[in-house]
Amino acid sequence: MRQKIMTRNPVLENYPEIEIEYIEHELEPRTATLAKGYDAICAFVSADVGAETLKILHEAGVKTVLMRCAGFNNVDVEKAKELGIAVKRVPGYSPESVAEHAMALALAVNRRLYKAYNKVRENDYTLNGLRGVNFYGKTAGIVGTGKIGAAMCRICKGFGMRVIAYDVYKNPSLEEFVEYVSLDELLAQSDLISLHCPLMDSTYHLINLENIKKMKDGVILVNTSRGALIDTNELIEGIRLKKFLGVGLDVYEEETGNVYEDRSDEIMEHSVTARLLAFPNVIITSHQGFYTLEALNAIADTTLQNLMDAKNGLRTDNDVA
Ligand code: NAI
Repeated sequence: MRQKIMTRNPVLENYPEIEIEYIEHELEPRTATLAKGYDAICAFVSADVGAETLKILHEAGVKTVLMRCAGFNNVDVEKAKELGIAVKRVPGYSPESVAEHAMALALAVNRRLYKAYNKVRENDYTLNGLRGVNFYGKTAGIVGTGKIGAAMCRICKGFGMRVIAYDVYKNPSLEEFVEYVSLDELLAQSDLISLHCPLMDSTYHLINLENIKKMKDGVILVNTSRGALIDTNELIEGIRLKKFLGVGLDVYEEETGNVYEDRSDEIMEHSVTARLLAFPNVIITSHQGFYTLEALNAIADTTLQNLMDAKNGLRTDNDVA
């Protein structure tokens, strides 16, 4: 039997039974009808997989929703269960992809690579504004030591840093070189702070002005986890207080509506992101931490295996409905 799904992937040759049709449009109620005649549909973080979309997919005969990401907050799981639609996801793919991007942001902001790149292109070979610090011998504070945080701990260790961490659970694989401390101790001792905990009620605005004031002067702060871990307005206050050597963000509170869109011709009327970008010691990327060849291949492989499992009626840890 040939399975048909609607998305794009690079490891398809390992799954000869699967046939794919790609469409550019986002999955939402208006586009869900296009799935008619397909066994499964594949969607990403920005798709609308709410009750209305699921109802239309059900009427179109779709039996499986394949989320090619870990998060599924955009899926109405209860509705999917009610309609008998299986929903499968990719809980972990390549933690190093995100951790390496976190270190890339830390290095880029420390050595002002974005400035240096433009200066040399402008025939300006001066070093003004480019002085950084060594990471070697400094202290890295990792908040959240799950899969990605643990990879970041290993990277920081490789740079010759002392690594301290804060988490609600200790990760036994790190016990040889990571010292767990309280959040306040981590804030007070770290030269580089990298956030890798999930966004929950207890972590919302974890980095606010009160906590920023507990940090060392000249700290580098990196967030590749979720934007709302940081109170952006209070971060801006902290930057104005000259707390930070640098701030590197792959995620930020206002990113919904921006992520993967070209808005270069628009005038942003009320953008705190634009205010952040006005600082010379801030670098922002747009949710690209996961975006490496290895991570994409791992996501594609798991997604295609999820479809085969669905076809064979197998339930696994990747099932959310
Ligand atoms: P994980 O579930 O393996 O690890 C999360 C860790 O955070 C766990 O050790 C957990 O105990 C800890 N934690 C929970 N509550 C905490 C708290 N209140 N304080 C401190 N630590 C706490 O998750 P993983 O795979 O390492 O992902 C981490 C985050 O990275 C995700 O939540 C997601 O938001 C983000 N992410 C970002 C991507 C990007 O492209 N920028 C891609 C993938 C994930």
